[in-house]
Amino acid sequence: MDLDSIRTAYRRYANHYDRIFGPVFNPGRKLALKTLDLASGQRVLEVGVGTGLSLPYYPEDVRVVGIDISPEMLDKARDRVDDQELSQVEDLLVMDAEDLEFEDDSFDAVVAMYVASVVPHPDRLVDEMRRVCVPGGDILIINHFTSRNPVLRGLERGLRPLSRMLGFRPDMDLDSLPEMDDFQRIGVRNANIFGYWKLVHYRNGETAEEAEAEPSFAASK
Ligand SMILES: C[S@@+](CC[C@H](N)C(=O)[O-])C[C@H]1O[C@@H](n2cnc3c(N)ncnc32)[C@H](O)[C@@H]1O
Repeated sequence: MDLDSIRTAYRRYANHYDRIFGPVFNPGRKLALKTLDLASGQRVLEVGVGTGLSLPYYPEDVRVVGIDISPEMLDKARDRVDDQELSQVEDLLVMDAEDLEFEDDSFDAVVAMYVASVVPHPDRLVDEMRRVCVPGGDILIINHFTSRNPVLRGLERGLRPLSRMLGFRPDMDLDSLPEMDDFQRIGVRNANIFGYWKLVHYRNGETAEEAEAEPSFAASK
């Protein structure tokens, strides 16, 4: 995957994206917002916001900034904001999620829905999400990760050569997402049908001991 092939893929998807990936991915989008449990006035960054299907789920009293590499996908998001008068949306900007143009600690929470297996370098994506998120802020990643079922896993591996055309890598491993001394997963939950997608929840700056003590996800790890 490279930025040109991603832009090309999502230019093609833009007009049909909501029909293909709208309802099927909506439970994950809603779960992300429920998990964030945002407080009034908080500022959130959604990277790879696409056509903005998640935007109506943000509470009216927070501020949301969305970025995406595809101008065509963002145009759809802008139409949605206008049509539905989504006043919580502060800005929608063309930007590379691996090279964010925001200051450190600019957001209370940072979210990437169905983006980690699309960007060329998921580790850079995570580094940037961490950098712009305040210490103690929530970082959520929803994605499909390669199946543990050997048959499905084989199918996903077989699709790998088509990644550029599909616009995502079908066989991303959950364990390829970084964990560091001060950046631990506090939970992993099933999202969408058959648990085929996962919501991975980090708290920025959290150590292993602190993550272990987190009550919310302990049962679902
Ligand atoms: C599968 S779509 C997900 C869109 C949206 N998050 C949703 O829930 O439907 C992936 C999105 O990530 C965007 N994207 C891919 N690579 C990116 C990058 N490096 N920087 C910003 N956006 C990127 C694509 O343009 C596309 O809109």
